[in-house]
Amino acid sequence: MNIIVEKNWDNHPHIALVKLNRSKVLNALSNELMDELVQALFKLDDDQEVRVIVLTGDERAFAAGADIAQMVEENPVDKILENRFRSWQQLTMISKPIIAAVSGFALGGGCELAMTCDLIIAGDNARFGQPEINLGIIPGAGGTQRLTKAIGKSKAMLMNLTGEMIDATTAEKWGLVAKVVPAETVLQETYEIAKKIAAKAPVATRLIKEAVNRSFETSLKEGMEFERRNFFLTFSSSDQKEGMRAFLEKREAKYTGR
Ligand code: CAA
Repeated sequence: MNIIVEKNWDNHPHIALVKLNRSKVLNALSNELMDELVQALFKLDDDQEVRVIVLTGDERAFAAGADIAQMVEENPVDKILENRFRSWQQLTMISKPIIAAVSGFALGGGCELAMTCDLIIAGDNARFGQPEINLGIIPGAGGTQRLTKAIGKSKAMLMNLTGEMIDATTAEKWGLVAKVVPAETVLQETYEIAKKIAAKAPVATRLIKEAVNRSFETSLKEGMEFERRNFFLTFSSSDQKEGMRAFLEKREAKYTGR
């Protein structure tokens, strides 16, 4: 098994933990691992009980990139026929919030995988990088695109052209990660954040994810229009009534996800 899925993580009915499980090779993202990951995430996305997904690796590595051993002898025709990047595209179809809890190396495809998630919580031992240039290639899953949108052109150029890693504090300063926490608490801290999100109205959290991601694809005017329509849409949910009534009645809202 290249990944381990724990539904009801820590007995929480709405949080799932997905752990990359190729420690010996620093969780290198083999084709098989990517297939299993996509399958597991789709299943969790379809499961109405699950509201938040946490994706993690182990203490040493979130993931050290695509599996170099699997790629070394490949040619472009192999790549086209394999259509490997379909799985990366599929990751962007998950509608529920995914939090990357990153310890250790997040390099190449590992950094790109973390960036494909909705937010990154990093242990203070985390290292981010796009070292593809050291292999004579360039990133293929967002290292020149998502990274540039996250940290800007100059810093993305620096990381991509030198292949050098940045530490967690720098990643936070540059806007790549949401929060840095002591390495030994990264899962616990991520769980606390996941718990907060899981307590919100699930339809609204999905619509937020959709709208924020849309901002990368559209003009401001179109993005604002999209946001407004999603805003209107929340008023068709019973959770909107519950949220507002609970506020006025000075009690905690109990969301049903409808
Ligand atoms: N693919 C396959 N195996 C990998 C791997 C990878 N990306 N990264 C590490 N491993 C393997 C190593 O070969 C090693 O295996 P053995 O024990 O069998 O020799 C094991 O994991 C442990 O790694 P190291 O001994 O190298 O550990 P280290 O602590 O000395 O170094 C490291 C850690 C700096 C992360 C180093 O392993 C490294 O540079 N890894 C490669 C990082 C990289 O280049 N990633 C980009 C891949 S290309 C890509 O991702 C393309 C894309 O955009 C999709």
